[in-house]
Amino acid sequence: QSEAGRATREPPIWKGRITFVMAAAGSAVGLGNIWKFPYIVGENGGGAFVLVYLACILLFGVPLLMAEIGLGRATRANAFSAFKQLSARSKASSQWKWVGGLGIVTSYLILSFYIVVAGWCLYYFVVTVSGDFTQSGQTLTQADTGARFDGVLASPVLLIVASTTFLLTVFLIVASGIKNGIEKSVNWMMPSLMVMLVLLAIYSAQNGMFMKAFDFLFSPDFSKLTLESVLIAVGHSFFTLSLASGSMVTYGAYMNDSASIGKTALAVAGIDTMVALTAGLAIFPLIFAHGLEPTSGPGLMFISLPLIFEQMPFGQIFGAAFFFLMFIAALTSGVSLMEPTVAWLEQQFSMKRLSAAFLTTVSLCAMSLLSAFSFNIWDAKWLFGMSFFDGLDFLTANVFMTIVALATALFCGYCLKPEQLQQMFGHQSRIIPVFTFSMRFVAPAFVGLMVYAAF
Ligand code: PFF
Ligand code: NA
Repeated sequence: QSEAGRATREPPIWKGRITFVMAAAGSAVGLGNIWKFPYIVGENGGGAFVLVYLACILLFGVPLLMAEIGLGRATRANAFSAFKQLSARSKASSQWKWVGGLGIVTSYLILSFYIVVAGWCLYYFVVTVSGDFTQSGQTLTQADTGARFDGVLASPVLLIVASTTFLLTVFLIVASGIKNGIEKSVNWMMPSLMVMLVLLAIYSAQNGMFMKAFDFLFSPDFSKLTLESVLIAVGHSFFTLSLASGSMVTYGAYMNDSASIGKTALAVAGIDTMVALTAGLAIFPLIFAHGLEPTSGPGLMFISLPLIFEQMPFGQIFGAAFFFLMFIAALTSGVSLMEPTVAWLEQQFSMKRLSAAFLTTVSLCAMSLLSAFSFNIWDAKWLFGMSFFDGLDFLTANVFMTIVALATALFCGYCLKPEQLQQMFGHQSRIIPVFTFSMRFVAPAFVGLMVYAAF
């Protein structure tokens, strides 16, 4: 009891700007960049989709990132209470707290399928270390790597063991307090991942069809853009920056008062976008060179990358390191996906951190079975005409996140008082007019367009 009380009064504050940037970038950079971004670009026709995505990041993603970090820092509370406290202070309806509430639900649901994909990385790490890919004696073809991936999906036991291993690692970090848990490890692992991605992109440019990939990614053909793909691009811009899910609000609560929110948001969005684009440049030249379909879906990265690891010098070591770092990138994001629920349980019910993390982990373990089984023993397409895994991804990343993002923007744009904005941004009040403009007009326009697109 007293310990929980102390946790509420003294949140663990990350000292210094760099540490916070690292933690927030650790949350942002994850499976969304390297696994999800390339495959949804592939499924949605390339360039035009990328352009919509980049526009969302710049016009709305960055301002919303500032908003969420600010909401957290101004209240030093979990997402639910942050909205509750600020609506009380600005005399707005207390119902705004449900925006924070839906954000927490969203992060929880995302984590339940995120761990399954992180489990794939873990499995591929083990396979690569054991040399199974590289020492086959004959050249791998995409038929081999495709069959391997299908084999993974077909085995419920393998999926559960791998995802549970990942979940337990997240649990250990969250339970021991994220401040001690991730601060140290992200500092060198994140830069290493970036370096490896660049090397991969260079290798794949030399050995694959770089021009075709470049064209695919960057020359927009708007006739390929459907209404649904616009929705997916907008939703992904939230997903990739860890927005609309309580994560950045919760992390903002741990940011020190003197750091600049604007610069931090720009840095995080910049790093995240660079990683995603580099991942695209690493993967697509191979896709085209090997005659793979850009539309192969969630397996895209796992089917294409082993093809290079087998051929490149030191591919086994390189491949193993790559999947290991993917696992770490997923881990830092996984921690930020569990933290909103745990911080809420801790503060709302005065729970101990360990109990809160334990409860969250056990229930997630059960939830994740639904995603794991939807690849094999329960492959009914019942959620929006998709499997449970795909449907849950769509529901959270595109529907819930869009609602939370829009509501957050309207709350900041129309409910918060000027003094509150001033307090949120501290000494950088110059950015307030731009910020307010984005929250009031750009955000609703974007989302309005999307809702129109969806129906
Ligand atoms: N931004 C993460 C990624 O791109 O992999 C995913 C994510 C993390 C989404 C945390 C939401 C969140 F709250
Ligand atoms: Na991301």
